[in-house]
Amino acid sequence: MGKRQFKPGNMLYPVPAVMISVADKEGNSNIFTVAWAGTVCTNPPMLTISVRPERHSYQMIKETGEFVVNLTTEELAFATDYCGVKSGRDTDKWKDTGLTKAPASKVSVPLIQESPVNLECKVVRIDELGSHHMFLAEVVAVDVDDAYFDEKDTFHLSKAKPMAYSHGRYYGLGEQLGTFGYSVRKTTGGQKNNNKKTGNSKHSRKDKK
Ligand SMILES: Cc1cc2nc3c(=O)[nH]c(=O)nc-3n(C[C@H](O)[C@H](O)[C@H](O)COP(=O)(O)O)c2cc1C
Repeated sequence: MGKRQFKPGNMLYPVPAVMISVADKEGNSNIFTVAWAGTVCTNPPMLTISVRPERHSYQMIKETGEFVVNLTTEELAFATDYCGVKSGRDTDKWKDTGLTKAPASKVSVPLIQESPVNLECKVVRIDELGSHHMFLAEVVAVDVDDAYFDEKDTFHLSKAKPMAYSHGRYYGLGEQLGTFGYSVRKTTGGQKNNNKKTGNSKHSRKDKK
């Protein structure tokens, strides 16, 4: 089997599709959907969103230098799509979707109450890349929903059923395959975890026999 070539474009999938809440200086707020978002630095915590300048929301972000990234879930899939196809120029997406505005702690932009995690962001740089302008922002506060903590006070994002976006389609995440570092973690008997194939036939269990 060979490989076919697509013209150069973006096929870095799956990615999160997030709802971005924004506001102008008069306090008018809006929500729009972004898939070109990414984590870029742990310390200081920074992320990027890439936005076309023609979006109604673009000027609002420029005006205040603030936005909130609201993570999405299976339950929020419909609203996420809606906020990505309708413009705040023509309609009030808060009203249309029934999503609830809640005050943020460090920015003047409201966050979406129904979202399990809200990342309050302040813009530090704008790079005019081409079709999209990339907002590099510092995460100045993280708001997480009480509902997803267990009795030991551990937060379980998986309980919120996060949603992914891949090549034009929305998905739930499906079953858990492992945890960070599980490929090298020792089992209780002191053995290295050899239960799973790596995908490379040289390392697969079958070949080790
Ligand atoms: C799944 C999905 C992902 C999107 N990703 C982006 C994106 O990364 N950047 C962008 O500028 N627009 C993106 N859009 C389009 C905007 O969300 C859309 O144009 C929206 O209507 C803009 O709203 P506004 O005019 O109220 O700002 C996406 C839309 C969808 C449905």
